[in-house]
Amino acid sequence: MWFKRMLIEKESPEQFGYDRIKYNLTESSTTDKSLSDLGIKLGDDLLLCYGDHYGSVGLRELIAKRYGADKDDVIVTVGACMALFLVYNTLLKPNDHVIVMHTKYPANVEIPRSLGCNVQTYELKFENQFRMDVDEIVSMLKPETKLVNITYPHNPTGTMTDAASIEKLAAACEKNGTYLMVDETYGDLTMGERLPHASNLTNYGICVESLSKAIGAPGIRTGWVVCKDKTLMDAMIAVKEQVCICGSVIDEECARQILERNDEIMSGIRADIAEKFAILCDVMEHQDVLDWVKPSGGVVCFPRIRPEIEIDTDEFYRVMNEKYGTFVGPGHWFDQDDRYFRVGYAWPTGEQLRKGLEGIINAVKDTRKN
Ligand SMILES: Cc1ncc(COP(=O)(O)O)c(C=O)c1O
Repeated sequence: MWFKRMLIEKESPEQFGYDRIKYNLTESSTTDKSLSDLGIKLGDDLLLCYGDHYGSVGLRELIAKRYGADKDDVIVTVGACMALFLVYNTLLKPNDHVIVMHTKYPANVEIPRSLGCNVQTYELKFENQFRMDVDEIVSMLKPETKLVNITYPHNPTGTMTDAASIEKLAAACEKNGTYLMVDETYGDLTMGERLPHASNLTNYGICVESLSKAIGAPGIRTGWVVCKDKTLMDAMIAVKEQVCICGSVIDEECARQILERNDEIMSGIRADIAEKFAILCDVMEHQDVLDWVKPSGGVVCFPRIRPEIEIDTDEFYRVMNEKYGTFVGPGHWFDQDDRYFRVGYAWPTGEQLRKGLEGIINAVKDTRKN
């Protein structure tokens, strides 16, 4: 057995127990929605048959429209995480050279590690405002590099890149015969214009997304992969069929109804995010124990305890959890020091967010040694 459980999943709030958390700042999505919140209606006659193995035609057409693609360029998956699994498992063999942006959502790096690939990480650094330098990634390409994987908007830092950087990277990957997978799971949470889709820039481009984060519907487990390379699509559908044959017809019908009204649903969600972002900025700008890179996408940020503060991080998390009822995503979920942590600001209510942020700050003050 070579697959290991990822700490972000093992220690996730749903496994720990939502009822044990007062101020939940661990989530990377907007507030969870119900069927009625999203106006979804399921008829009594919805047939519980095997569905189209690629995903229902109506759903794939709506996804394709977002990408300027054809429905045949789309495979619907069980969340974005299955899309990542399909891509890695079709493209890679042990020892293949892969470049993965890091820190990041762990599956992006754990799947190729589990497959025994030669994984080279491109490190995002706080000192550089977590910015991607495309020239540096291009300089890491080797003739044999199979895949480059980046995420935008980025989890856990909430940072963005620009269209020119994506275009430059796509061109360099195509020239090198390397696939470029862009994890766009937070795509609809871009502040401003969405980035160009890699699947439109090169035949080696692959896009991954889902309805988990922006919509706040991770429970329907619906994501997708978009790619114009037919050979790769054939291989990916083979993996999907071997894992689950097809997706859930109920989930896919919910997803179809959401995407049909996506703009309308997202405008309400964006207003809610804006209110919470204002609270986040207000608290962060009036404290003196944390440093941060102000996020420009997604609904998370990745602050750190200021370097001059001496602290036992285990004690800090214990006090924050037990005394203040506040939970965040600790750095170790993302292969980082626990002085860093992810704050998800759009899932809790505004009041819970403010109390949770105060809990973090008070826990630093209570436990600092200098
Ligand atoms: C960047 C990124 N990709 C993929 C996923 C998987 O999400 P899901 O499978 O719910 O779509 C996550 C979840 O946190 C994520 O942050």
